[in-house]
Amino acid sequence: MKTKNDFIKILVEANIPSNEAKIEVELILEKVTGKKLEELLFINEFDEAQIMPYIKERIETKKPIQYILGYAHFMGEKFIVNSDVLIPRDETEILIREVNKEIFKGAKILDIGTGSGIIPCMVGKYSKEKNLEVEILGADISNGAIHIALDNVKKLNLIRTCIFRKSDLFSNIRSDEKFDIIVSNPPYIPKKMYETIQDEVKFEPYNALFTNDDKGLYFYEKIIADAPKFLKKGGFIFFELMQGQADDVFKLLSDNGFKNVQIIKDLANIERVIKAEI
Ligand SMILES: C[S@@+](CC[C@H](N)C(=O)[O-])C[C@H]1O[C@@H](n2cnc3c(N)ncnc32)[C@H](O)[C@@H]1O
Repeated sequence: MKTKNDFIKILVEANIPSNEAKIEVELILEKVTGKKLEELLFINEFDEAQIMPYIKERIETKKPIQYILGYAHFMGEKFIVNSDVLIPRDETEILIREVNKEIFKGAKILDIGTGSGIIPCMVGKYSKEKNLEVEILGADISNGAIHIALDNVKKLNLIRTCIFRKSDLFSNIRSDEKFDIIVSNPPYIPKKMYETIQDEVKFEPYNALFTNDDKGLYFYEKIIADAPKFLKKGGFIFFELMQGQADDVFKLLSDNGFKNVQIIKDLANIERVIKAEI
């Protein structure tokens, strides 16, 4: 039998930063015991034989713990993930909260680059709680991502609210499909940064993270150029941003006929979300 701190120490000794090691051990303990984090506080010792296989796999493969466990926590929900989808990041909660402020009864929403479907799921869940009956179409170029997004929607009982379609940006969106909101957390890391990123991130799909241009703006340029054709008059566009991209994306939006451009910062004062109206 070992304590939680014993397992954390093993991960720290394998060069996993201590704050991450603590969270990862808690996730493993939750999975193995089936207990919630608060309940784990009352257990002093855990069965090594059940826990060590996860710890070993984490150390030997360097795979993110969420891929090893098969799920990630996001906004209070457990999302199914595998190596076909990006692991949800906390920053995306800011994007979702901004979208939720603008939804209304019957709104039609398009999420480009839907990945595991966290945006449709969390907007859909909110709209259901508020009886707003929105319709959300999640589009992604990856078949694998579409499968996972569908699994998540089924798990959250949102199949009447969210649908998914394979599409390279707008390629599979019909010209007569018009939306009140277009939202995207697109790939935004310039490929020249590949060598500087953490080993764990290299397990995530390259196409979910990287762009071929120097500033990571490729997807913003493409989506902003075509979005006016698919937005209703007065419709909104929302993007998540990487630190340092806000000014460029602001200009792209203004140059393409968008107005009332607003930037939303995160708690660390980083410009994280941009919103505009057509
Ligand atoms: C940064 S991830 C975002 C995933 C998810 N929306 C989230 O916030 O966690 C970007 C997503 O865009 C998708 N993607 C990349 N290129 C695309 C394209 N040309 N058309 C549609 N989706 C694309 C990737 O497969 C990936 O799922």
